[in-house]
Amino acid sequence: VNYKTPKKRQEIIQILLKGLQRLEYRGYDSAGLAYDGEEEGAPVVVREVGTVACLEKAVNAELIGKPLSVRERVFNSHVGIAHTRWATHGAPSVKNSHPHSSDPTHEFLVVHNGIITNYNPLKAMLLSKGYVFETDTDTEVVAKLLKYFHDSIREDGEPPTFARLMMYVVHAIEGAFALLVKSRHYPNELVASKRGSPLVIGIKSETTFDKETFEVEASAPLLPDSDSRDFLLENGRISNDVASLEYRSSTNDSNSSGAFFSSFSRPSKGLRFVLRKEAANKIEFFFSSDPSAIIEHTNKVFYPEDNDVVYVKDGDMEVFCYSNEDPSIARNRLLSTIDLELEEIMKGRFEHFMLKEIYEQPESVQQTMRGRIHKLSNGQYEVQLGGIRDRFYDILRSNRMIFVACGTSYHACLACRQIIEELTELPVSVELASDFLDRRCPIFRSDVCIFVSQSGETAETLEALRYAKSHNALTVGVVNVVGSSIARLTDCGVHINAGCEIGVASTKVYTSQIVVLIMIALQLSADSRSKLQRREEIFQALISLPSKIETTLQLDSQMKKIAHSLESRSSILLFGRGYQYATCLEAALKIKEVSYMHTEGIHAGELKHGPLALVDQDMPVILFVTRDSTARKVQNALQQVIARGGFRSMIVVCTEKDEETKRLKSEVELVQVPETVDCLQNLLNIIPFQLLSYHLAVQRGHNVDQPRNLAKSVTVE
Ligand code: G6P
Repeated sequence: VNYKTPKKRQEIIQILLKGLQRLEYRGYDSAGLAYDGEEEGAPVVVREVGTVACLEKAVNAELIGKPLSVRERVFNSHVGIAHTRWATHGAPSVKNSHPHSSDPTHEFLVVHNGIITNYNPLKAMLLSKGYVFETDTDTEVVAKLLKYFHDSIREDGEPPTFARLMMYVVHAIEGAFALLVKSRHYPNELVASKRGSPLVIGIKSETTFDKETFEVEASAPLLPDSDSRDFLLENGRISNDVASLEYRSSTNDSNSSGAFFSSFSRPSKGLRFVLRKEAANKIEFFFSSDPSAIIEHTNKVFYPEDNDVVYVKDGDMEVFCYSNEDPSIARNRLLSTIDLELEEIMKGRFEHFMLKEIYEQPESVQQTMRGRIHKLSNGQYEVQLGGIRDRFYDILRSNRMIFVACGTSYHACLACRQIIEELTELPVSVELASDFLDRRCPIFRSDVCIFVSQSGETAETLEALRYAKSHNALTVGVVNVVGSSIARLTDCGVHINAGCEIGVASTKVYTSQIVVLIMIALQLSADSRSKLQRREEIFQALISLPSKIETTLQLDSQMKKIAHSLESRSSILLFGRGYQYATCLEAALKIKEVSYMHTEGIHAGELKHGPLALVDQDMPVILFVTRDSTARKVQNALQQVIARGGFRSMIVVCTEKDEETKRLKSEVELVQVPETVDCLQNLLNIIPFQLLSYHLAVQRGHNVDQPRNLAKSVTVE
């Protein structure tokens, strides 16, 4: 939203497109935008299947034959919205792309991230009122509902204000959303709201705000007695019973009634906060799912809470808050400054973000440890993680630790389970968030649940967090994105501090997650005298880790050669056990994600229980035999594979000092990594396989940073 900041139409479009490019890692099967047309308030909508680059072409095509005065028209104030989509409801197509429209003249245009779970009964109601739906999406119902309320609700004989209209809609919809709405009825105004999905607002103005808090302007009923739910039940002829047949909210407990309006109780009062621009001041607002689209404009941001309705009009931003009637909530309504350099989200000298991020690991791991590991006057080390300090004894006194995550973050938890068990002497379980939810895993208030996530927004992990909270367990977040939903909803936590990660395949955050989890175990075992020596060994290894990562990265050219030898194979198997089991799973996931080759990570102890049948002289086998307590047993697996003729395509990962394995040099491809303490060896071992997956993807001609069918941050279940 620009207010009194004159901008040419082309400039406005460029801001929107650039913002979308920064968010492309979230999904990229189609994209769209809306900007003001020639007639007052009448918007132009352009949508296209494919990447943001495809949308850019479509926008240029739309403008091409227009006179210069149209292309270069200057807007003093303007609202534009844009969206990049990752299909959940409805296949990728132009009609299913956002913005979605209330009608052919675009009275209301909506962009949405999330899922509207009660869209079916709402759609049925709107169909019965004569509304015509053009798409298969859940989002379209929001656009139509805005129009329906606008046309049918009257306050003092007038349609509601834009903000109030949005409040009616927010009350009527269930599910997860971040929504932005533009309307020809309310030119130069924008409303937004969120529940469960991320939303951040960047504020760029000529003057700094001396008070970085919002003023509380009102504490009064925000909606009339008869709110939109009553309105729908009475006028929309929606019956709670009928609706319940069609609707089951994913956010409800299994024992819920499944009624139409179930998960969000109707508030009677709310608060209104206003951020006032200085008189005659120019101001711009940037609403985004993620700060990376904002950072090149401003680092001053505001994070709305769930159910807030944010309204921009005449350069003022108002926040209507329902979550709490307590005026003290105003204290939480602060503007914050984000510490993210634009350079961090650019590729620099690298061709792909993934490669850049792999090479950043000496620095990112260092950054994760910075200021947290201290040498004491007695020569010993200690770790201080401020975010869990206050809950230190609560965690230690717990009965068990449950780690919950998805994808690569899940592998980081598996990679650290053994050392956490060893140092804390607590039972540790590691759960896939989806499976944890499917099983409705029994949770007690004596449990500590730790949610590990790069984005802090993964739908299942977030849902599992809500589940654990509802069972009164202590919740701890380990997240990379500051201010993300998991960071905000957990009782305490540790930031991963690996810097912004853009490549869909996670690399540097994986290694930093391992460092954080080990630091947590070290902090929790600080009082244990019997662990003194073990702890010192790990501290020493952590300190030398960045330089060992540098050395490991020198394997790049060897991994590129190996990629050449593997690029046309149809399958790859990886075997390891102990600490290296997680390495096998993570290496297999990396190869699958970006090179689309069938790859399996297998526990070496299971070899003879089935997978050995897959081994022959043509099957590429990668074996991790780096030295730790399981090394002997892995040597057995090595011999078994050799006996099946597997050595012809075998790659063996060992440490530089492992003379015994090095004797196999003439028979197998050896990948020699620097040696470190057992619990950190997996961190070094994964690096050559991050490189291998990268080279395989490049050689096979795939889009490394945006693998097909995948998104970096999966914010819907
Ligand atoms: C998606 C990504 C994975 C990631 C997983 C968990 O599936 O493609 O790379 O590991 O989500 O993401 P999180 O942000 O919770 O770590």
